[in-house]
Amino acid sequence: MLLNRIEKALMNNPVRAAVQRSVEAKRLLEMGGRMSGGRALEVGCGRGVGAQVILEQFGAEKVDAFDLDPSMVELARRRLARFGDRARVFVGDAARIDAADATYDAVFDFGIIHHIPAWREAMGEIFRVLKPGGKLYAEEVLRAFLAAPLMRRLFEHPREDRFDHAEFRAELERRGFRLLASRELAGLFGWYVAERPRPS
Ligand SMILES: C[S@@+](CC[C@H](N)C(=O)[O-])C[C@H]1O[C@@H](n2cnc3c(N)ncnc32)[C@H](O)[C@@H]1O
Repeated sequence: MLLNRIEKALMNNPVRAAVQRSVEAKRLLEMGGRMSGGRALEVGCGRGVGAQVILEQFGAEKVDAFDLDPSMVELARRRLARFGDRARVFVGDAARIDAADATYDAVFDFGIIHHIPAWREAMGEIFRVLKPGGKLYAEEVLRAFLAAPLMRRLFEHPREDRFDHAEFRAELERRGFRLLASRELAGLFGWYVAERPRPS
């Protein structure tokens, strides 16, 4: 689901970029470690700050990044042009990821899965495109935040079948992930690092 005007303004500003760099990326790095090279995917890249963080802070060699909203993709393309062929940006849908099975060493979700009506399918897609041994790094907004009356008034999100911390963890496991670490803040936000296991 596309962002409304208010949420778009909140996402496309320097405060959001600073939080993404110094709080969210830092926490996910502590939980899951750096990539040391390899190929990463960011689902719902917005204006491209996350993809930049993936290259600069997580140490990916290359990143593919996509978003449902062509105007966000355009902003991300401009931001990431300085990285040349290390960054590729395109319009896409996380519920139907345009990539072959087992393509990526890591997939990043900076707060987008709660925007997807068919979020469970998106989790299956992320599992599919990860290589065995690859990791999902996810930062998510939980049901209690989305259901708060003020948030409902300000933002537009799908209302059916949203998730809390336990349900997000359970869906990861149901899809075949091995959960490596997770944290929750006041039932409102969650952070997750999970691995697609190698065949034994
Ligand atoms: C809350 S914003 C987060 C943007 C960015 N990840 C960040 O942290 O600044 C959610 C983004 O997900 C995108 N989005 C929503 N549904 C999507 C889907 N099914 N597939 C890909 N992107 C989607 C929206 O267009 C928006 O840019």
